[in-house]
Amino acid sequence: MSLKSINPTQTKSWKKLRNHFNEIKDVHMKDLFKEDSDRGIDFSIKWEDFYVDYSKNRITQETLNLLIELANEIDLKDAMSKYFRGDVINKTEQRAVLHTALRSTEDDEVFVRGKNIIPEVFSVKNKIETFTNNVINGTLKGSTGKSFTHVVNIGIGGSDLGPAMVVDALQYYKNHLTTYFVSNVDGDHVSEVIKKLDPETTLFVIVSKTFTTQETLSNANTIRQWFLKSANKEAIAKHFVAVSTNTEKVKEFGIEEENIFPMWSWVGGRFSLWSAVGLTISLAVGYNNFDLLLKGAHKMDQHFKNEKFKSNIPVVLALISVWYNNFFDAETEALIPYSQYLNQFANYLQQGIMESNGKGNDRSGSPINYQTGTIIWGGPGTNAQHAFFQLIHQGTKLIPADFIGFVKSLHGNKDHQNKLVSNYLAQTEALLNGKTEKEVLKELKSKRLAEPEINTLLPFKVFTGNKPTNSIFINKLTPESLGKLIALYEHKIFVQGIVWNIFSYDQSGVELGKQLASTILDEINNKASHSHDSSTENLLKHYRQEG
Ligand code: F6P
Repeated sequence: MSLKSINPTQTKSWKKLRNHFNEIKDVHMKDLFKEDSDRGIDFSIKWEDFYVDYSKNRITQETLNLLIELANEIDLKDAMSKYFRGDVINKTEQRAVLHTALRSTEDDEVFVRGKNIIPEVFSVKNKIETFTNNVINGTLKGSTGKSFTHVVNIGIGGSDLGPAMVVDALQYYKNHLTTYFVSNVDGDHVSEVIKKLDPETTLFVIVSKTFTTQETLSNANTIRQWFLKSANKEAIAKHFVAVSTNTEKVKEFGIEEENIFPMWSWVGGRFSLWSAVGLTISLAVGYNNFDLLLKGAHKMDQHFKNEKFKSNIPVVLALISVWYNNFFDAETEALIPYSQYLNQFANYLQQGIMESNGKGNDRSGSPINYQTGTIIWGGPGTNAQHAFFQLIHQGTKLIPADFIGFVKSLHGNKDHQNKLVSNYLAQTEALLNGKTEKEVLKELKSKRLAEPEINTLLPFKVFTGNKPTNSIFINKLTPESLGKLIALYEHKIFVQGIVWNIFSYDQSGVELGKQLASTILDEINNKASHSHDSSTENLLKHYRQEG
């Protein structure tokens, strides 16, 4: 069954939220904290090793109740059961959306077109496990009898960002294999990686769901040509494996059938790291850790599926984000992990969130007259504090931010960890409270500045505060907790897509540029001529003359 189409702005709860917004839009969070001394507890959720504090938001209990009323009115429960049981909720592509099935348990049953897909999922997991073990322990060797030392993941978008982010995030758990990621069609990218490789000891993992993506095939072909300079064609079978749904195309490339790791049309690219797309993760940190990542995600799936909305982490965070996006007109959201390991987390979620919810037509096909997908950006603290935080603190835009922190560090340097956590907590406190004129005056006077100087400086030193943040405090960065964290955001994406009445699992918007690029490439390669606007025309002319 497909998803219902309900315009959220036509619901009773939306109208109530609009009235409620007018009443509380100017309320300062500081006052909300004064009114309720337990606010920090009342607006937080403890679950497993997660402590999610969402009290530093411009919300009251009434806001939360109304947002939940909205979730009920648009029938989120019904949509969730369709999502988990494999209904065709990706209607424009006629597909189920079942990344959750990839991390389910072996005794689960999930049916796609009448067939239980779980046995197939586990057979591919077994194949990943055996292959991973053989590469890591050196049983599997390259064409000249040497064990592998390097793994190169060739893919782009969902076939790159997820594995690259997770391998980086879990580098503490890494084994001896060195991993590289080649994604951009920029030839300098692949050339720089090739410089570091020894063909005798490198394994190439070509990841492409469709196996038609220009960037991935160009990079794979370039690498193959380089490889064949020092090896014969038979050696390809020992050094190249592929992850794809398109077996025919993979075989055409010269990869043996046994070296193909299948995936399925019901796994969206940006949600695919749990499938064989995560092969490089498994190789880098070992199959057990890969499996723990999946187990963590499965726990979050269960929480999302079974927990009542009020204490359901993905639901609460999704609804609060809707509150800012649609009532406060906030356009962006920042993701600030206080961990260098999560350096690539915002990058990764940019695809997850913006490719999913960057849609302007509702589920009936009509143009939408309210805001949908938020713009996602961010970077790790404390670095980010010295880069873009100024604008969050004193700029003119409202930027809700998620602060992700870990109680324990992995290497156990307590001095650094105390400093890191102090900064993590201090920033959300500063964003909440700001600094009043009275406080600034006191501070400037204590510096014994002259009165005219104080008066000049005063307005620039005042911070309004009232800037919303969520704090996601996790005990420790482990494969399992990372799996939970990623799954949390996947479900947040789902909830928001349901509220906004859009289809979150297609991506037609990225196709137009691809089509036009192929027309322009034809002109560059074959001197063909097509008509363009005068800007594109002249840029092309410039490239031809100077290139
Ligand atoms: O450009 C969009 C996209 O289709 C993404 O959704 C996808 O993750 C990426 O391209 C790569 O696709 P593929 O895995 O088929 O090469």
